[in-house]
Amino acid sequence: MRTRAAVVEAQGQPFTIADVDLDEPREDEVLVRMVATGICHTDITMGSFLPAEMFPNVFGHEGAGVVEEVGARVQGLEPGDHVVMSFRSCGDCAKCRSGLVGYCDSTLLLNYMGMRMDGSTSIQRDGSPVFGSFFGQSSLAAHALAYADNCVKVDPDLDLTLLAPYGCGFQTGAGTVLNVLQPKPEDSLVVYGVGAVGLAAIAVAAAEGVESVVAVDPLASRRAVAEGFGATSIDPTEVASVVDRVKELTGGGAAYAIDTTALPPVVKQAQQSLRARGTLVALGLGAEEYVLDAIDLLQGGKTVKSSIEGDADPQEMVPRLIEMRAAGTFAMDDLVTTYPADQVNQAVADVTSGAVVKPVLVW
Ligand SMILES: NC(=O)c1ccc[n+]([C@@H]2O[C@H](COP(=O)([O-])OP(=O)(O)OC[C@H]3O[C@@H](n4cnc5c(N)ncnc54)[C@H](O)[C@@H]3O)[C@@H](O)[C@H]2O)c1
Ligand SMILES: [Zn+2]
Ligand SMILES: [Zn+2]
Repeated sequence: MRTRAAVVEAQGQPFTIADVDLDEPREDEVLVRMVATGICHTDITMGSFLPAEMFPNVFGHEGAGVVEEVGARVQGLEPGDHVVMSFRSCGDCAKCRSGLVGYCDSTLLLNYMGMRMDGSTSIQRDGSPVFGSFFGQSSLAAHALAYADNCVKVDPDLDLTLLAPYGCGFQTGAGTVLNVLQPKPEDSLVVYGVGAVGLAAIAVAAAEGVESVVAVDPLASRRAVAEGFGATSIDPTEVASVVDRVKELTGGGAAYAIDTTALPPVVKQAQQSLRARGTLVALGLGAEEYVLDAIDLLQGGKTVKSSIEGDADPQEMVPRLIEMRAAGTFAMDDLVTTYPADQVNQAVADVTSGAVVKPVLVW
């Protein structure tokens, strides 16, 4: 079928809204009419991160829409279902069977190769392949092909424009607190970089009753949102030493730290901000290498780790966060700003400048 997509034509180029041809759904595929698609920082990074030969490409991995058609072998979904889309996993390997679907043995092939497992692209233009299948969706488009494993069915009465970011950004921040760190109220948490991912972590830490939460970000608008969730904030451009300030605010160092900046000097600060035996989770994408403070790491017996999607299984985490939203303990609606799909580059500019937290395109 003919549809519209936000295409990145070449490495480092902005998005262009263009007509493309999307395959009919195969027997294991689901055709989804997109209502809304969140833009995650990863969609922006990929345009310069992937090798030049992987363009033109359609990204987008926070799709939310309505199922239009299902292949013959698809179970659990039918036309008319409202779905929030997330990342893919095989469901069958040891990691998937243990519930850690973000570390599926087939994750690279299922989410990042720009094509189906058999090497075909699901998108064409003038007969030439366009890379797609990003997170098994490529949902920066009016229609997308997805799979039963990455479509989470949601209540059709809910507003899909507000739920789109639950498939990646919000899930990752929330899951990092709920699954990876599991802080107790008496623990302290510092979050470096409070965009969509960092703010979701802060919102959930507050919901879990964590008393001491510190947000570090140079953007005043974002620090203000973090403060609204009960965090104390630091402007890293205003203090002589961010690390010293975090230590002051947390009684000698935070039990837990999260980095979403992917900036090597900031990751090092996040490590240094920890108290002895503390744990840092580095979530950002974009750096090739991090440099740790080896003496501090050793003396403090610290842990530095990372996480894909907050170790979440979207089929559990998305409904859980929707329940928290209904209960008023995951109040992220005001962080969403909608844009008509053809204003995709304005949306990118606004999230980059910090004018908005979570841009969502409406198709
Ligand atoms: N691990 C995963 O599974 C996963 C999932 C989603 C996103 N990500 C990655 O997480 C990161 C965050 O995503 P996002 O959408 O929230 O991005 P974002 O750009 O909205 O947020 C990053 C924040 O870092 C802040 N920042 C910049 N310099 C800083 C400094 N010196 N100190 C403190 N803060 C600083 C920015 O002002 C911004 O608010 C991206 O790298 C993204 O690719 C990872
Ligand atoms: Zn698997
Ligand atoms: Zn993402």
